[in-house]
Amino acid sequence: MKIFLDTANLESIRKYNDMGLLDGITTNPSLMSKEGGNPKDAMEEITKIIKGDVSLEVVSTDYSGMIEEGKRLREYGTNVVVKVPMTPDGLKACKSLSSEGIPVNVTLIFSPNQALLAAKSGAKYVSPFIGRLDDVGQDGMNLIREINEIFENYDFGTEILVASIRHPLHVVDAAKIGADVVTLPPAVLEKMLHHPLTTIGLENFLKDWDKLKSGNPDIKI
Ligand code: E4P
Repeated sequence: MKIFLDTANLESIRKYNDMGLLDGITTNPSLMSKEGGNPKDAMEEITKIIKGDVSLEVVSTDYSGMIEEGKRLREYGTNVVVKVPMTPDGLKACKSLSSEGIPVNVTLIFSPNQALLAAKSGAKYVSPFIGRLDDVGQDGMNLIREINEIFENYDFGTEILVASIRHPLHVVDAAKIGADVVTLPPAVLEKMLHHPLTTIGLENFLKDWDKLKSGNPDIKI
């Protein structure tokens, strides 16, 4: 399973990329707005830091605007995936950009049928938003199960990119289902790294090592 970071924060991107954990990045207009400044600079920088796919989202809602913006976004790097919303114009843009060899991520997917249509339109990724479904009392993970079951019947080549992840258990469940990608807010990735028993275990190992050393200060590994 690939791990993407769901952020436009350069510090977080550098931190987890340096740890070798990142296969890609997803952004959206809200994440760009959260960072402030000129989004163009951030977009350019992210595509330089990250070797894998970087999803950059259009803000036009009509077909020709999306095509124009998609092509401009693609100029930031050959690893740019153009993110378009799951709308009729978005799907039309997905079809056109994909047929020109520009990879597309169809975002704001909330039903299996939307995922099916995006796959048929040539999307490289579909982004079902599971946390937002949970928020309104629907089972977000069930959507991943259904999309996965449908995609297994065909040969679309479209990857399931699980988005709107809220906590580490979402990641475990998505991995059990076999989702291709999870995109994580930095806070969720940070939580996945830690366990209190790891911290206590390491402290105790080091205390015991110090005891051994106190009897023989020359001991080294
Ligand atoms: C995915 O590409 C989106 O940027 C993101 O996962 C949305 O998550 P949210 O529901 O936490 O805003």
